[in-house]
Amino acid sequence: MSKSDFEKILQGEIARIDDAKTSKRNERVIEGFTAEHKAIIGGKEYSVFNSNDYLGLRHNEKVKRAEAEAGEKYGAGPGAVRFISGTMQVHKDLEERIASFHAREAAILFSSAFAVNMAVIHCFLKGQSKDSLVSNDVLVVSDALNHRSIIDGVRVAGLEKHQKAIFEHMNLDDLNRVLAENIGKFRRVVVVSDGVFSMLGEYQDLKKMQEVCDKYDGEYPEGVITIVDDAHGVAAFGESGRGTEEITGGRADVLVGTFGKGFGSDGGYVVADKIYVDYLRESAATYIYSNPFSPGTAGAALAAVNLIDSDEGKNLIEKSRANISLFKERALNGGLKFVTDSRHPIQPILVGDSAKARALADKLFENGILATSISYPVVPKGNDEIRVQISALHSPDELEKLVSSF
Ligand SMILES: Cc1ncc(COP(=O)(O)O)c(C=O)c1O
Repeated sequence: MSKSDFEKILQGEIARIDDAKTSKRNERVIEGFTAEHKAIIGGKEYSVFNSNDYLGLRHNEKVKRAEAEAGEKYGAGPGAVRFISGTMQVHKDLEERIASFHAREAAILFSSAFAVNMAVIHCFLKGQSKDSLVSNDVLVVSDALNHRSIIDGVRVAGLEKHQKAIFEHMNLDDLNRVLAENIGKFRRVVVVSDGVFSMLGEYQDLKKMQEVCDKYDGEYPEGVITIVDDAHGVAAFGESGRGTEEITGGRADVLVGTFGKGFGSDGGYVVADKIYVDYLRESAATYIYSNPFSPGTAGAALAAVNLIDSDEGKNLIEKSRANISLFKERALNGGLKFVTDSRHPIQPILVGDSAKARALADKLFENGILATSISYPVVPKGNDEIRVQISALHSPDELEKLVSSF
């Protein structure tokens, strides 16, 4: 027995993944973008319907210029983690700006939203008084279809089985049941949910979720704390791009976001009351022991946040909404069926069978369209879909071509 036996195990595992046609390692290589924001692959142009850049900000001249200027001023990389090397002004400015964007007291940046979830859930589940160990009188309650980063964030918290509960997907009566049943058994509860669910474009009713949590806050000695990850909602959804909170009128205690989707830049963040943010700065491992994103990226993110609040941003949000409506209208007229009635740029077209969904995505590719097939177990059996992501930058011609290609 030696390493070569282990390598055989790895080969077997990769062969199994390849046989199941679920491999992710041979992704397409994009050589660049045209002036109309089409991707160039193998010298050919493709309309991009599989990107989270919902407002087209990664191609925006102001955002790109801000990235270059911040890189010029501060250098390409951060040099070290913030408590060792010091904080660059651009990171500070971005924290202040994203906190005010969400009308919160404070913000903290992480290298990605995934890195946020790997630390934040754990931090707010820690024991109440002594040390960094998770006490066994805290409970985490999670939506059944939360993102992988939340699932892993709960895993690293090292809880016992009885400390982890799941409520049925978007069923807040079921959340109510879980909170009612656990009174007297735990000191504190952390409820965690996606804002927008990325496979289906549907969203949690955050107002109702907060009302349910507030109802039980006084029933637990240390209350009920809500963490919402609105990675796909912010800068995509809502009249002014404030995401699922704006759509539902809800407000999470701890809101997680990313600059890597609608903001067209990169990196994760948390906004909350200052006490929560101060505590994360002292205890979140992926903040303390990991570099912040580069100053150029921070400059781009700052420009993107400012842009969304400008007339240009308002126009882009309006354009995004108009494109979603146009696409839905044409698709329904063309006889296409949707898995959900999404109002978000994520539009799931029902195919119903995984082989067909994959074949359809390949056909779309032959027609110059990038869109992703999503199959079981990511979506329920029979709900296999083509996930279309509409951008503010799509032209009416591209939308027409997408529908006729289906
Ligand atoms: C809900 C949710 N959280 C977190 C992430 C990860 O974001 P990031 O790329 O900033 O790590 C994603 C992206 O897939 C997501 O959908």
